[in-house]
Amino acid sequence: MKQMVSVLFVCLGNICRSPMAEAVFRHYVQQEGLSDKIQIDSAGTYHGHVGQPPHHGTQQVLKENQINYDGITAREVQKEDLERYTYVIAMDDQNIRDLTRLVDNRIPTIHRFVDFIPNTTYQGVPDPYYTGDFQETYQLITAGCQHLLATIKNEQGWN
Ligand code: 4NP
Repeated sequence: MKQMVSVLFVCLGNICRSPMAEAVFRHYVQQEGLSDKIQIDSAGTYHGHVGQPPHHGTQQVLKENQINYDGITAREVQKEDLERYTYVIAMDDQNIRDLTRLVDNRIPTIHRFVDFIPNTTYQGVPDPYYTGDFQETYQLITAGCQHLLATIKNEQGWN
């Protein structure tokens, strides 16, 4: 029997990058019929956008690619999330530093999203809140989400 796996994507505001990853990853997981085995969420280290839907740029790129984002609203990451989720995946190194501070500088297991992108030179997922380039972020997120799903299937022995 397949065990349940949970994935939490984390960025700063939880309105641009991590909700994009949540929607894209959920799309791939549904396509593979694994929705009842993989629980997916996203959260931000900054509270300023709590309760808001994704940024219009994120909404636009998801719409263009027919990826559903119904019901996604921003929430602030909680200390308990770091223990509860199988995979906590941060969008950049600042997110990792902020998450580490949240748990009193113990070293939690946090993955870097870019480490799931094959052959990339990116050190973090660029923040389209500042770059304005939602396409670049979308390309990186699709590549990373595909490889993440393959990694989880491998690690769980679901192949
Ligand atoms: P995100 O982008 O972390 O990808 O959601 C940002 C969203 C909001 C802010 C910064 C980055 N902000 O400063 O309000």
